[in-house]
Amino acid sequence: MKVKGAVLYEQGLPRPYAKSQPLKIETLDLEGPRAGEVLVKVGAAGLCHSDLSTIEGLRPRVLPSVVGHEGAGIVAEVGAGVTDLAPGDHVVFIFAPSCGSCRQCVSQRPNLCTTYTAAKAKGDLATGGRRLKLNGKEIAHYSGLSCFAEYAVVTRNSVQKIGKDIPMHDAALFGCAVVTGVGAVVNTAQVKPGECVAVLGLGGVGLSCLLGAVVAGAGRIIAIDVSDDKLALARQLGATETYNARDPGCAEAIRAATDGGVDIAFEMAGTIKAMELAYAITVRGGQTVTAGLSPIAAHMPLPQSNLVSEGRRIKGSYMGDCVISRDVPRYLQLYRDRKLPIDRLRSASIRLEEVNEGFDRLAEAQVVRQVIVF
Ligand SMILES: NC(=O)c1ccc[n+]([C@@H]2O[C@H](COP(=O)([O-])OP(=O)(O)OC[C@H]3O[C@@H](n4cnc5c(N)ncnc54)[C@H](O)[C@@H]3O)[C@@H](O)[C@H]2O)c1
Ligand SMILES: [Zn+2]
Ligand SMILES: [Zn+2]
Repeated sequence: MKVKGAVLYEQGLPRPYAKSQPLKIETLDLEGPRAGEVLVKVGAAGLCHSDLSTIEGLRPRVLPSVVGHEGAGIVAEVGAGVTDLAPGDHVVFIFAPSCGSCRQCVSQRPNLCTTYTAAKAKGDLATGGRRLKLNGKEIAHYSGLSCFAEYAVVTRNSVQKIGKDIPMHDAALFGCAVVTGVGAVVNTAQVKPGECVAVLGLGGVGLSCLLGAVVAGAGRIIAIDVSDDKLALARQLGATETYNARDPGCAEAIRAATDGGVDIAFEMAGTIKAMELAYAITVRGGQTVTAGLSPIAAHMPLPQSNLVSEGRRIKGSYMGDCVISRDVPRYLQLYRDRKLPIDRLRSASIRLEEVNEGFDRLAEAQVVRQVIVF
């Protein structure tokens, strides 16, 4: 079938993207689903900073590729052997699906499945090969998804069935921002009621983390960003205190206000500066959790003896350490009960044709989540 999609040909083009147009809207050929795959009519897809980092060239990917990894849609067709999904089912796309049999999967770490990582690195589906072509040439899949397109063919495990009551423009965020942010609180850090936490970087991921900290009963929630607008939104969503990371006295002020630092600091910005600040404001004996993805070559120097003598822990959190089939239904129920007001993170609904302008706004931190509505 013919589908319209956003193709990235070249990384590292200059901003503004409205002018350099890193994403070109093309009409592609999409093959139908093979065994173990499903065809999904995309309903909505969010613009995440990970897509932006790919466009910026900070994280190399196989090109050309149809980008987009945070989305939701409706199953249009199922391939042979897919018996637990049917046309008409609503689904959320999963950017790190699990095979169930690799070493990580059998060790209860399905978010770190290596079967899918290997396929993703090649721009293929986990079931093997590609289903997208343009003028007879193959186009890579992004995270096995490529949901900045009207339709996507994906491996069965790259989608999670959801209720039909969830609007597509909110459901989309559960595939990346919500599982990453809420999962970091609930699974990675296991925040306890009354604990004092800080969230650094208040985009879709960081604000989901903040909402997760509210649900977990954190006592104090310190929100930190370089944008005062983001700090104002964080206060509306439950932050008890806010600090601007541009203030050189920020770390000292937070340590003074918290009797030595926060129990858990969440780095959700994707910069080494934010990670250094997160570490600096973590209390002796506390945890620094990071979900931000800084440029692939970036390194952070660590005071090793301080890590030991202060009994600190640093944890990376990929897709919130989520078990998708367990956690997505839980988080959706919290959303239904208005305990996770994810709709507050949607800054705008846009058309596929506005995607380059959308990434300009994300790069300038003017927005939280913009959602392409198909
Ligand atoms: N671990 C995962 O599984 C996973 C999943 C999704 C996204 N990510 C990564 O998470 C990060 C956040 O994604 P997002 O879509 O929410 O991004 P975003 O662009 O919407 O938000 C980032 C926020 O960080 C703020 N910021 C920038 N520098 C800062 C600093 N020094 N201190 C404090 N705040 C600062 C920005 O102003 C912005 O509000 C990205 O690096 C993204 O690639 C990781
Ligand atoms: Zn993402
Ligand atoms: Zn696996």
